Amino acid sequence: MFCCRDILLEYSKHVTKLGQTLFELLSEALGLKPGYLKDIGCTEGLFLVGHYYPACPEPELTLGTSNHTDSGFLTLLIQDQVGGLQVLHQNQWIDVPPLHGAVLVNVADLLQAITNDKFKSVNHRVPAKRVGPRISVASFFRTHFGEGSEQRIYGPIKELISEENPQIYREIFTKDYLSLYYKKGLDGTSPLSYFKLLK
Ligand code: OGA
Ligand code: NI
Repeated sequence: MFCCRDILLEYSKHVTKLGQTLFELLSEALGLKPGYLKDIGCTEGLFLVGHYYPACPEPELTLGTSNHTDSGFLTLLIQDQVGGLQVLHQNQWIDVPPLHGAVLVNVADLLQAITNDKFKSVNHRVPAKRVGPRISVASFFRTHFGEGSEQRIYGPIKELISEENPQIYREIFTKDYLSLYYKKGLDGTSPLSYFKLLK
């Protein structure tokens, strides 16, 4: 287990750097100054998860990772050559084929909320497979768990709201958002629907 420690520390440094660049680009894409998303804390809480999906003799009886959207702001994912990740597009599950060296960038729920739906958090899943094992590593940029951070509030960025783009979500306490996310589990629903202003 400890054999991965140094590698992960090194990897997390690179992921942090890549994340910072991506948040700059995403800020600019929103017409905001490059440091905007970093300044509101989007790069503060990095959480790394290694997934191991064993080969499954009866995949129809179980799930790998069930349908969900990611919590937090942004996920960077690397997967091996086995494949299996699928995204929901127009009510159909579409394979995301493995591409050597590729890093998948996925908008998560809170980025959807603070961009007032300009960026969308996509439903995805990994069905169990007969082939395997499959390994993937997900790096989540999510809310920071440090002191005082639970009281932090996230809501649609004021600059993105106008008459044509009315505010869709109310403001969300980090604490409320997280407890809702973990309480409901990976059931395919988005916690964002609970924070919608317009029904
Ligand atoms: C996740 C996730 C997909 C994968 O960790 O949230 O969706 O390929 N992982 O393991
Ligand atoms: Ni996910």
